[in-house]
Amino acid sequence: MTVSLLVQTVVLLTAVDLVQGAPQVVCVFGGSCLLPCSFQPKSNTVLHWVKKNGKDVNVHSYYEDQDQPKYQDPLYKGRTSLFPDQISGGNASLRLARVDLQDQGTYLCYARGDSPDKYITLTVRAPVGTVDIMLVNDTVTCKSGGIYPRPELTWSISPRPATALQNTTVVHEDDQGLYDISGSLRTVYTESVYSCSVQNEHGARTATMRQNPPQVDCVFGGSCLLPCSFQPKSNTVLHWVKKNGKDVNVHSYYYDQDQPKYQDPLYKGRTSLFPDQISGGNASLRLARVDLQDQGTYMCYARGNSPDKYVTLTVRAPVGTVDIMLVNDTVTCKSGGIYPRPELTWSISPHPATALQNTTEVHEDDQGLYDVSGSLRTVYTESVYSCSVQNEHGARTATMRQNRKYFNIYGNRQKCKSKV
Ligand SMILES: *[C@@H]1O[C@H](CO)[C@@H](O)[C@H](O)[C@H]1NC(C)=O
Ligand SMILES: *[C@@H]1O[C@H](CO)[C@@H](O)[C@H](O)[C@H]1NC(C)=O
Ligand SMILES: *[C@@H]1O[C@H](CO)[C@@H](O)[C@H](O)[C@H]1NC(C)=O
Ligand SMILES: *[C@@H]1O[C@H](CO)[C@@H](O)[C@H](O)[C@H]1NC(C)=O
Ligand SMILES: *[C@@H]1O[C@H](CO)[C@@H](O)[C@H](O)[C@H]1NC(C)=O
Ligand SMILES: *[C@@H]1O[C@H](CO)[C@@H](O)[C@H](O)[C@H]1NC(C)=O
Repeated sequence: MTVSLLVQTVVLLTAVDLVQGAPQVVCVFGGSCLLPCSFQPKSNTVLHWVKKNGKDVNVHSYYEDQDQPKYQDPLYKGRTSLFPDQISGGNASLRLARVDLQDQGTYLCYARGDSPDKYITLTVRAPVGTVDIMLVNDTVTCKSGGIYPRPELTWSISPRPATALQNTTVVHEDDQGLYDISGSLRTVYTESVYSCSVQNEHGARTATMRQNPPQVDCVFGGSCLLPCSFQPKSNTVLHWVKKNGKDVNVHSYYYDQDQPKYQDPLYKGRTSLFPDQISGGNASLRLARVDLQDQGTYMCYARGNSPDKYVTLTVRAPVGTVDIMLVNDTVTCKSGGIYPRPELTWSISPHPATALQNTTEVHEDDQGLYDVSGSLRTVYTESVYSCSVQNEHGARTATMRQNRKYFNIYGNRQKCKSKV
């Protein structure tokens, strides 16, 4: 009986080949999927799910009131199920688990004595998952994987650069048929936001990152090098401009010489290029006597070159000498000419039982630098007082010992003196 049933089925199935307009089910890769089918219930139900794949592949069979896994193709082993309690009601829907790309195609749902045969097309998608973006040196890279159908990768940059940036995309198909995609993009040296979108017809995911221009940390009062290189061309034209809301001309060079005429007075006599290196594509600028007003973003423009290069200048004035001294019963501590704003902290050894009365004052001078001073009422014992002045760039500490014996003698001596 079994054999005759199968023979009948095969004859039936080969009669039909391509099926136009079959309803479509979209399944997620790795997930479970329902292939719907209903039929006119009759006694002695016989159901076959068959994949039409050039040759027919037995997906699931049911007769004599039970599943018949015997003839099931190994591809579907353990992945298919009907809804047994609903079969008598005419429901032959099939649940397919752990869907993979090989499952794509047209399926026939055959119920004996029912017509017409029902066809369903199964397509698989693997949605775009995490998109990773990162910056290494001057290149942004972007990655995603395990995607189907084939994805695309697009960049968007804000602010929009004047010219197209050098970029590459690589798509790789893994052994399951899913796609990995990666892209890289040469950045412009400016404050920009890079977004990378990976998408296919089922959706998109975007990852975003911000690039800040390279930063040059300059010491207040010293000299500083703002790096810039360009593709050398004849008739070199160079401009260094500070982007400060409005543009400020910092240094210009053309007709083979510096052009101080349009230079902003703020920079007068403080800037220089390296004339013997310009022909080699070096437009680096040396800035002397750096002060706090020099902080900000600078653009290096070379005619015929793109993109423009940017660099951010920050100034710091490190903590210099810290002075500590003891006057009567108070330790005072001082330092000055510091940027950014410093803090002052005390440490005392041995640690006193209670907090000591102390004050700290910070004062900003007319150059924008900070002076800091602190005072601390001492305890009359043999102690070591340390005062630390620090900001985010470093700390300096000054230490002094208060010696009880010495202090007493000194006190006595003072008393004697005052009596004299
Ligand atoms: C068959 O039964 C399943 C499980 O209850 C249900 O999800 C599905 O919609 C039913 N299909 C049809 C065609 O009745
Ligand atoms: C980044 O630049 C540094 C210095 O130029 C270089 O040593 C390093 O190999 C570069 N890293 C990559 C991933 O290109
Ligand atoms: C990527 O390169 C192509 C040419 O290779 C260019 O058309 C496109 O604009 C570039 N993309 C970006 C974001 O610059
Ligand atoms: C330009 O030349 C100066 C002076 O020799 C050097 O210090 C700097 O590294 C050079 N910069 C570039 C970008 O080549
Ligand atoms: C220290 O103490 C002496 C005597 O009490 C006093 O004359 C002097 O003004 C004090 N010095 C300070 C800086 O407070
Ligand atoms: C300084 O005074 C503050 C409170 O005004 C206190 O919390 C702190 O512990 C004191 N510092 C020392 C070293 O005693």
